[in-house]
Amino acid sequence: KNFKSIEIKNGNTKCVMVKKYWSEYLEDMKNFEVFEDDVWVISYPKCGTTWTQEMTWLLNKDLDYDEAMQNKLNFRFPYIEFGGISDEISINTIDKCNKLSRPRHIKSHLPVFLLPEQLWTVKPKIIYITRNPKDAVVSYFHHYRNIIGYLGSRDEFFDFFLNDKLVYSPFSSHVIEFWKISKENSNVLFLFYENLKKNLDNEVKKVMKFLNKNYTQDQVDKLCEHLSFDSMKKNVSINWKPNTLPREVENQTEEKFEFIRKGIVGSHKKEMTENQISRFNDYLNRFSDYSELLENF
Ligand code: A3P
Repeated sequence: KNFKSIEIKNGNTKCVMVKKYWSEYLEDMKNFEVFEDDVWVISYPKCGTTWTQEMTWLLNKDLDYDEAMQNKLNFRFPYIEFGGISDEISINTIDKCNKLSRPRHIKSHLPVFLLPEQLWTVKPKIIYITRNPKDAVVSYFHHYRNIIGYLGSRDEFFDFFLNDKLVYSPFSSHVIEFWKISKENSNVLFLFYENLKKNLDNEVKKVMKFLNKNYTQDQVDKLCEHLSFDSMKKNVSINWKPNTLPREVENQTEEKFEFIRKGIVGSHKKEMTENQISRFNDYLNRFSDYSELLENF
């Protein structure tokens, strides 16, 4: 409700975006110059982007923990369209990415059709991460509430997701488009939050290989420790709390929100009613042609 949002369409594909993005960023983003040695992390919000960014950056930067601790993730690995999704941000984040030294690390939540056209011709390394939409939407709810100041009910918020009304929605086509691209392009690696939780060692090695890097088991063990939930929660270079919560939210909530929040698979089970779960089960029918996606959620 706080966003002046707009639905951007391209044939059958669409995406809910903020008006500022559409008027100031759309063209520059399409024409953004891409380099072969770029590394992009792309996702629908709340699917484990930050986790994947920290893993990717360290693997690609020779495990430079000193730099990682001194320099916040947002600077090392900027969110390219961030300036276009909030009226409060005056920095042009596309310009910021243009000025990064190479190899550049860039995060985006945009769907395929809104991303730079050169991504599909220059073919840099792209890592896409997704997550069970039930857990993603619960995480998105806390984000909207505590960062953006959403004051509506959970039920209404979940309906916004199911009806493709939230910023970056629809979730389903966002994921399916990338799934299809990853099947046909070796420069696109597709990851699941659930697999990072199940076997981080395995997923770290997958990304290591994808980036053509080679580290010892001891180095991988140390990285897994650095990427553990407890360690990331303590890491001020990554985790953050909003300085002030919107007053109305503060009056209504007892939680102390932090970006690295619960970090579990199945958090929807405690945070959704039976009826809400059943509505999301119906939503999952959108993935009926993609059994591998359904199996991993
Ligand atoms: P929850 O809100 O369910 O806890 P994104 O970075 O895409 O916004 O995703 C944020 C979600 O990833 C949050 O989920 C956050 O807690 C979770 N997350 C971040 N780092 C994590 C880690 N090291 N282990 C498990 N979950 C993590």
